[in-house]
Amino acid sequence: MKVLGISGSPRRGGNTDTLLEEVLKGAEKEGAKAERLHLIDYTITPCKECHGCDNTGNCVVLDDMEKIYPKLLEADVVILASPIFFYGVTAWAKALIDRSQALWSRKYLLKDPSLGKEGKKRKGFFISVGATKGPKVFEGAILTAKYFFDVLNAEYVGELVFRGVEAKGDILKHPEALQQAYETGRELVSAGKKG
Ligand SMILES: Cc1cc2nc3c(=O)[nH]c(=O)nc-3n(C[C@H](O)[C@H](O)[C@H](O)COP(=O)(O)O)c2cc1C
Repeated sequence: MKVLGISGSPRRGGNTDTLLEEVLKGAEKEGAKAERLHLIDYTITPCKECHGCDNTGNCVVLDDMEKIYPKLLEADVVILASPIFFYGVTAWAKALIDRSQALWSRKYLLKDPSLGKEGKKRKGFFISVGATKGPKVFEGAILTAKYFFDVLNAEYVGELVFRGVEAKGDILKHPEALQQAYETGRELVSAGKKG
C-alpha cells in the first residue's frame, strides 16, 4: 500500500511536519510504503484558469506538478497536512490543490473511468494545526481538503487537528499528539488492508 504525505507548511520541521512524520511512521509500521512531499521543495505555479486542461485532462503549465500528478494517482492513501493560514490551507497547499483542476477535468469533463466509480479507490486524510482556539478555525481548510480528495477518488476518512499550536515545537505541548498521529498512521493502513 502506498501512502503519500503532502506537507504544505513552509516551516520545515514545524508542527505540521512533526505530526505528518509520526503518521507516516505509523503507516510504515503497518507495512505501507510511505513517501513525504514537502511542497517548499517544489515549484508549483498557481492555476492560471486558462482551461487548457478541459479537453485533455493535462495541465499546460509545465513545472514540478508534472512530478506530483503521478504520485497522487499512484497513492492508495493521500494525507494532506497544512497549518492554518488565514482560516484556510497555506498557499503552498492551495497551489497544489488548484492545479488538481487538471484531474477534475479528467474526472468530470472527460469522464475518465479511472477517476470514476470503477476506478481506484483511495483514502484521504487531513492534518492541521492552528494558533487560535476558535471552534471554526479548521472549517474552511477541511472543506477544501474534502473537495481535493473528491477529485482524487479518495474517500475522506477524517482529520487530526490541534488548536493553540503556534511556535515551532508547540505541538509537543500536546502530550497525546504524537502518539495519536502514530496510531492514526497505523489505522489508516490497517483499515485499508481489511478493505
Ligand atoms: C501567514 C500566517 C497566517 C496564519 N493564520 C492563522 C489563522 O488564521 N488561524 C490560526 O489559528 N493560526 C494561524 N496562523 C498560525 C499557524 O497556523 C501556526 O503558527 C502553526 O503552528 C504553524 O504550523 P507549522 O509549524 O506546521 O508551520 C498563521 C500563521 C501564519 C504565518
